Amino acid sequence: MNAPRKETLRQLWGESAVEYRDHVKKFATHRRISLLLLSALTRSPKSILDFGCGPGNSTRLLRKFFPEAHIVGIDSSPEMIRLAQSETEPGLNIAYRCSDLTSSEESGGSFDVIFCSNSLFHVDDKSQLLSRFREILKPGGCVVFSMYEFLFQPQGEISWPYAEAITDSLIPHVVEKLQGYGYPVVSRKEDREIFREIDLKDLFLARGLIVRCAGIIRINRTWEERRSFFRIPSVAQEVFPNVPTEDVRRALDSVSLDSVYPDQERNVYGFVAEMA
Ligand SMILES: C[S@@+](CC[C@H](N)C(=O)[O-])C[C@H]1O[C@@H](n2cnc3c(N)ncnc32)[C@H](O)[C@@H]1O
Repeated sequence: MNAPRKETLRQLWGESAVEYRDHVKKFATHRRISLLLLSALTRSPKSILDFGCGPGNSTRLLRKFFPEAHIVGIDSSPEMIRLAQSETEPGLNIAYRCSDLTSSEESGGSFDVIFCSNSLFHVDDKSQLLSRFREILKPGGCVVFSMYEFLFQPQGEISWPYAEAITDSLIPHVVEKLQGYGYPVVSRKEDREIFREIDLKDLFLARGLIVRCAGIIRINRTWEERRSFFRIPSVAQEVFPNVPTEDVRRALDSVSLDSVYPDQERNVYGFVAEMA
């Protein structure tokens, strides 16, 4: 990945740290996604790396499930790591480190599980990251990760309740407002890679990892939750990359909380990748 973009993303996560922490405390979606990944673990790991641990929400959940495990949380944003440290009681015995894993500070064969709750899809250079994952996994270890349905396209039909059409009225409203402010925006824009099932499998296989879907949950987000989410700077920039965050917020704030917007339902997929 080019260095300026990497640095910009790191800064955006830093600016987003407090709001992200408040958002995940108020709404259950991220916790549900972490629980989906936890349910994919079939053995009790002795050592876990929580990659992209953010303010430590997923890391502390791991501690609840695995009281004896050695747990390390890493995040490339120093602000996130500071929050994680201040929000975690020392007795929980979690080691937090500011890192994006590109240096060799985690030694080979260290972890039974690499836990990527809401984090893998934020990384641009996934090939390089997976190579590092492969190095630091213990033999027989696994990577677990989550993907939203707009970033992952399964092959074949998915049956009820996962096949309902996606409806959205909040984003069209925001787009209309942004157009009114003079931005040539026509829809939300993903600046992240969208994977077909076969591409995801190939990406992992090239690094000696076999990936399989371990579960799906249906998340139901009120538009109040979605508005809170899109206000987070890193999220606002992912969805509307060429619009300043303040204007995305202005458009979101113009939506009356009393408006009747239907909840949005989405699938989230949990995956496990094991050594080939
Ligand atoms: C959406 S938060 C996820 C936090 C938590 N794991 C959860 O489940 O809610 C994504 C985190 O990934 C971190 N991140 C993004 N790219 C990263 C990278 N290359 N290396 C380490 N952390 C990264 C961001 O700083 C951010 O804190």
